[in-house]
Amino acid sequence: MSKVELRSQQWFGKTGKDGFIYRAWMKNQGIPDDYFQGKPVIGICNTWSELTPCNAHFRELAEFVKKGIIEAGGFPVEFPVMSLGETLIKPTAMLYRNLASMDVEESIRANPIDGVVLMCGCDKTTPSLVMGACSVDLPTLVISGGPMMKGKFKGKEIGTSDVWRFAEAYKLGELTQKEFIEAEACMARTPGHCAVMGTASTMATMVEALGLSLPQNAAIPAADVRRKVLAQHSGRRIVEMVNEDLKMSKVLTRPAFENAIRVNAATGGSTNFVIHLTAIAGRLGVDLKLDDFDEFSRNIPLLANIQPSGEHFMEDLYYAGGLPALMNQMKEHLHTSIVTVNGKTVGENIENTPIYEPSIISTFDAPFKPDSGIAVVRGNLAPNGAVLKPSAASKALFKHRGKAVVFENIEDYHARIDSPELEVDENSVMVLKNVGPKGYPGMAEVGNMGIPKKLLEKGVKDMVRISDGRMSGTGFGTVILHVSPESAAGGPLNWVHNGDFIALDVENRTINWEVSEEELAARKVAQPFEKPKTIRGYVGLFIDHVEQADQGADFDFLKGGSGSIVTRDSH
Ligand code: FES
Ligand code: MG
Repeated sequence: MSKVELRSQQWFGKTGKDGFIYRAWMKNQGIPDDYFQGKPVIGICNTWSELTPCNAHFRELAEFVKKGIIEAGGFPVEFPVMSLGETLIKPTAMLYRNLASMDVEESIRANPIDGVVLMCGCDKTTPSLVMGACSVDLPTLVISGGPMMKGKFKGKEIGTSDVWRFAEAYKLGELTQKEFIEAEACMARTPGHCAVMGTASTMATMVEALGLSLPQNAAIPAADVRRKVLAQHSGRRIVEMVNEDLKMSKVLTRPAFENAIRVNAATGGSTNFVIHLTAIAGRLGVDLKLDDFDEFSRNIPLLANIQPSGEHFMEDLYYAGGLPALMNQMKEHLHTSIVTVNGKTVGENIENTPIYEPSIISTFDAPFKPDSGIAVVRGNLAPNGAVLKPSAASKALFKHRGKAVVFENIEDYHARIDSPELEVDENSVMVLKNVGPKGYPGMAEVGNMGIPKKLLEKGVKDMVRISDGRMSGTGFGTVILHVSPESAAGGPLNWVHNGDFIALDVENRTINWEVSEEELAARKVAQPFEKPKTIRGYVGLFIDHVEQADQGADFDFLKGGSGSIVTRDSH
């Protein structure tokens, strides 16, 4: 019996016809009547799908969550929601993040649920679930699916970031098709999501840093049985959270967001973090601006030696002490007195957590790299900002001025990038337009454009690249992303021409395009801005309502929440 008034009793506690309907059909699953008499009902929001391979082990993992819920006196009800797999969904899983969040929000609110366990794994499955749940604001916690074990290919440890390296080697004929296929099986050899600090691991780290999961959620491998134990503990804990009425909004306060930004910097997390965290904050009405990411990560060095910013993998982070040990190293820079889902403070959770492997987690005073976090650059090319991940970029390019080589859209890029005629050298600045939220509906991860073949052959490894798109969390390079406003929303990027000079200055956080006001005005007359045509269905809704990257790319009408109250019955 719960100590608080249970929301689920508005269904199951009813007498008469309504109560009969709410209970009777549930009983066809073999549920005893006492389950309906005041046990906290815990929704297990599952993104299991065989089309989301990173989450394909979630049915089994859910059983451990259930075990924990039942042990603690709760009533588990597992339900599926739209699951977004990064690797198969075209044109990009990000197109559906907001749609999935609507599914999550409405599924939770509409049903007799008192508390929620969100099962998150592959990139977008975390923000979509957290965003949706925030808009209902019940007691909620996250159990992530965990990273894959690292791969091994030709004696070398590999992970997702090697996909980009393999692709270049293949282009240069250094890797055959047969070797390519062999590498596939070597990389993805266990359940779980990408084994590097890509977006999925960034999101699992984010929820732990926010205090929205139990400690060690970020790094325990999917294949490690301790992930199952964590799931069981998560199940036990959510029942207590319902009894304590520990809602999401009590955990996800502004200081929690500041902690997450700092931890993301220390771990070398993905640039996608910026968009997702901003969207989550928007659902709770927490005021979070693009510049906060720069401000709160500026003095935080890189403490985790994990790819793509470092050399190792998520499982190594776990063996080295995990996220609590890393956070312990930076505790002076964290809000340690705020509460997390286990009912303890951040400070209590990271107490006595030593580093077991100093080559994986560094101390704050002797970090792996001084530059980390998210740099927000601004200028006439990006009046509302753009982002760069310093830890994954080349220091030599932090201050760079070069001539633009412009691609009008992704098709134009693919058609010309490897052409011997392309006028480009290592000092050029590659510019890609129309890959922002509206332009490539969903804002695909194409911002880290591959280097032109003829420069690869010369040994060029990095160039300044600018776009209104995103980059995979596993990607790297001196890449300016999320240029806002985007070209398809009439941003200045739209009028950049080949040969224009662009100057990047990371230290001063500027990105300037050398064009006179007269010239720009003339270009706008010669080439008037055309809004993308609205398409029917969901994509049309997306283009019409998606906000710009600096706002989190949520739908304008989804900001905030509607709470958990439903006043009407269905019969
Ligand atoms: Fe799913 Fe990387 S593809 S996490
Ligand atoms: Mg991705």
